[in-house]
Amino acid sequence: MFLIRPGTPDDRPAVAAMITGRAHWLRDNGYLRWRGWARNADVLPSMVGDPDRPVVWLLTSPDDQVLGMTTLSITPDLGWTEQERVEPATFLQSTLTHHAHAGSGLGMVIAFWALDHAARLGDKWVRRGVLSDSEGANLGLVRYYRRQGWRVVRAVPHSHKPGITVWSLARPAQEQLDLADVVSAQPAREMVHQVAR
Ligand SMILES: CC(C)(COP(=O)(O)OP(=O)(O)OC[C@H]1O[C@@H](n2cnc3c(N)ncnc32)[C@H](O)[C@@H]1OP(=O)(O)O)[C@@H](O)C(=O)NCCC(=O)NCCS
Repeated sequence: MFLIRPGTPDDRPAVAAMITGRAHWLRDNGYLRWRGWARNADVLPSMVGDPDRPVVWLLTSPDDQVLGMTTLSITPDLGWTEQERVEPATFLQSTLTHHAHAGSGLGMVIAFWALDHAARLGDKWVRRGVLSDSEGANLGLVRYYRRQGWRVVRAVPHSHKPGITVWSLARPAQEQLDLADVVSAQPAREMVHQVAR
């Protein structure tokens, strides 16, 4: 049984190692945009357990190994209309899983937990975004998400980054009754809806 829980400062070394490991996996498997994740290995871990930053949710194994992460925030301007942004929605960001478990669907566990969590918060949608470039970087991610049931709301050229396409994906938030067999969730201690979800 997995656990999804808010990260604490003690988790920072494990999170940094997981991000670095995944960045190297992306590089070694020929994915073009791995450098951004290598840079994130210096930045994202400092957010973990910082009360002034959005909660970083960690997926952990029964023996508390960090296997994945995500953050939940409000819908950004990039890729979404003003009308969509006022709808109650959770936006998934910084989602990453441990490379040693690639192919085992951990990203799907995180996504289904987010659908359930958002539904319980009263949200209508869970959204996420992907940036692709003219060389096709990240298109594999769009295909992967579509296979999992995410709908492409739109794909539009980035307003100020030539060659970059912004993909906006969504799924209706929905309680996942079978999820309780796979993952248990620990609530954030001071969860403030819309700010630190
Ligand atoms: C996206 C992610 C969280 C999904 O988790 P998961 O379900 O455990 O996924 P896997 O590692 O098994 O990868 C799933 C598929 O996505 C592909 N993929 C993963 N990251 C990718 C990337 N950055 N660009 C293109 N394709 C990618 C994998 O090659 C795999 O494709 P396949 O099913 O055709 O073999 C995980 O792959 C990951 O950490 N990727 C790197 C970080 C990232 O790109 N995060 C997405 C932010 S939008």
